[in-house]
Amino acid sequence: MSDKTYENIKIERDGAVTTVMLNRPEKRNAMSPGLHYDMEDALTWLARDEATRVLILTGAGEAWCAGQDLKLYFRETANNPDERARSNTSSHHWRWELLSRFPKPTVAMVNGYCFGGAFTQLCAVDFVITAEDAIYGLSEVNWGIIPGGIVSWNLTDMMLPRHALYYAATGEPFDGKRAVELGLANFAYPKESLHEETMKFAQKLLKLNPSVLRYTKDAVKAVRGMTAEQARDYLGAKQDALARHDKEIADKVGMKQFLDDKTYRPGLGPYQSKT
Ligand code: ACO
Repeated sequence: MSDKTYENIKIERDGAVTTVMLNRPEKRNAMSPGLHYDMEDALTWLARDEATRVLILTGAGEAWCAGQDLKLYFRETANNPDERARSNTSSHHWRWELLSRFPKPTVAMVNGYCFGGAFTQLCAVDFVITAEDAIYGLSEVNWGIIPGGIVSWNLTDMMLPRHALYYAATGEPFDGKRAVELGLANFAYPKESLHEETMKFAQKLLKLNPSVLRYTKDAVKAVRGMTAEQARDYLGAKQDALARHDKEIADKVGMKQFLDDKTYRPGLGPYQSKT
């Protein structure tokens, strides 16, 4: 089956790595209702697409995403409560529910501007690799709203409270290097090597057993709101579930390759997974 095509986003494949690109470069990839509907459809489809093992989220042109489209998302739905409600639900659905629970690893490749509402998808993905000179900002305060949707929650969840309040209250822009210092991004690279470094990272993820990776990311995210006792119980049950779900894990292939075959060092890299 050929890939789906959309008006506001573009899908590209490189082997098992699928890139979803917000594709409104002339509007700095601001999120219109149409873009939200496209993203909702694409992520629902790609979550079940067997050819996709790593998902990269990026933007066409100079921007990663300039936040919600002030004209199409805010102004033009102001007198249309049905459309406002539909696009608001869709916006939350893909940026948070679908992305933060996506069953394969997700990587934001932040190529440029990232503002306001874009912080929700920035925080929903598993990993962020940014251009050093990408510009980030909680610009809501500059035009008269608070960081809404769940952006304020995303900020305090991902950053130290002092930093979250500082950037939300001042709207001061910062660059990709600062995003790493703030804990919003994993790595910053010069723009010229951003794509190459992101693909290198994706290849690293592809070497891992996909079930272990999925259960690990679910587990690390889930335990944050738990007590130590709840986490211990949950993680024990989760490990049992992983072994039931994946035969390689049940057969302890990794342990065998280290102890019997002596083909790798678990401390230095992954075992040879066949999945
Ligand atoms: N909503 C609607 N249109 C937008 C948005 C946006 N968020 N961002 C950019 N555009 C449009 C501009 O209106 C302009 O359209 P036009 O060509 O029809 O005039 C076009 O995209 C290009 O924008 P420029 O401002 O000309 O581009 P420039 O490269 O100089 O600046 C920048 C880019 C810094 C991103 C600037 O456009 C900007 O500040 N955008 C708003 C960012 C923002 O505050 N986002 C909202 C956050 S709040 C929220 O998401 C809830």
